[in-house]
Amino acid sequence: MIRWFLVLAIIAGESLMAAEEEQTLTLQLPPASLEKWYRPVNKHDVWLHTMFRLRREMQAVSEYSALEDPSRLKKWLDKLEKDYLSIGKMVPEWQDELETELLEKMRARAAAGDQEGLARVQRKLRKSCQSCHSEYKLTAALRYRTPDFARVKVESEETLEEEDYSRVMSRLSLLLNRVKIAGEDERRKAALDALDQLEQRLADLGGSCSACHKQESTREIILGEKAKASLAHVRQGLNAGDKRQAARYLGEFAVGVCADCHAIHRLQSRMRRLLSGD
Ligand code: HEC
Ligand code: HEC
Ligand code: HEC
Repeated sequence: MIRWFLVLAIIAGESLMAAEEEQTLTLQLPPASLEKWYRPVNKHDVWLHTMFRLRREMQAVSEYSALEDPSRLKKWLDKLEKDYLSIGKMVPEWQDELETELLEKMRARAAAGDQEGLARVQRKLRKSCQSCHSEYKLTAALRYRTPDFARVKVESEETLEEEDYSRVMSRLSLLLNRVKIAGEDERRKAALDALDQLEQRLADLGGSCSACHKQESTREIILGEKAKASLAHVRQGLNAGDKRQAARYLGEFAVGVCADCHAIHRLQSRMRRLLSGD
């Protein structure tokens, strides 16, 4: 009995250690100069568009090689070379990662009409694409292409002050819970006051969507009629002393507004902050 217990304890202890070891994840940040090739520093996401071109050029090279069309093949090899070399010009820290000699070899194979040889060298080039991608693709996308809420301010209609998103969020959470607590404990006035403030804060928040969304209608998807109707039902419930109605519609509101908006934006915002060291 005792022996069994000991064995189990050791196994449990070991698996606990293994689990702890598995919890670290190292992410490699891209070099700082990559930032220049993304909005808002640049007018466009130049880096990403270069990458899309590289993929297209790789495909065109394979296709024209198979079609035995040397002049188009040469045209696309030229484009491929230009864009591949631009990697090191845009981000000098990555110059050494490039395998530029492979481009020479591809040209030579193409000129000799050696389809298989060309395909073999191209596979090597693709490996060089992949080795950079496995280290940096995810972190670059998270760092430079996720919404940057740290730059967005919410203007309060009451005080005309500009507030950080995270402050506004803490305030929303406080007010939502105040409505919930006071409603449950039948402190009607406190609940209604908090509800008024919550509505005001949401209106303020709605003014900030346009920092990233050009179309007015986007705001309505989250903060439109449905949200207003949920809160109107909460108010009705509180006024009628119907705790269950108030709680039910407050829950509906929290899911349809807070949780839905978080599902779209919050995780990305968190990742961006993490990788930006905010
Ligand atoms: C030295 C680094 C590096 C090299 C070499 C490189 N890339 Fe990239 N690539 C990146 C980074 C970083 C991203 C992420 C960009 C983003 O998501 O904003 C990326 C993204 C891409 C994407 C977009 C993928 C997607 O999510 O849809 C394509 C396509 C792509 N690369 C093609 C290529 C091809 C083809 C090559 C080789 C001919 C290549 N890349 C070589 C760094 C590199
Ligand atoms: C734009 C849509 C949007 C809506 C609507 C929204 N949030 Fe948020 N919320 C965010 C984003 C984005 C973040 C992360 C902000 C950041 O990274 O600073 C966040 C973060 C938070 C946080 C964490 C704050 C922190 O400092 O970490 C809380 C709490 C929160 N929201 C509560 C709420 C509540 C409660 C509601 C509903 C009454 C709500 N939010 C509605 C987008 C939204
Ligand atoms: C910091 C930038 C930023 C802010 C501020 C922002 N969003 Fe977004 N939002 C995005 C990005 C990026 C996407 C995903 C790409 C896209 O669809 O444009 C997105 C997607 C969405 C989507 C899903 C796609 C769609 O258009 O249907 C909705 C809905 C949405 N946002 C609502 C809101 C609302 C409501 C607010 C204000 C309360 C808001 N957003 C504020 C950046 C932002």
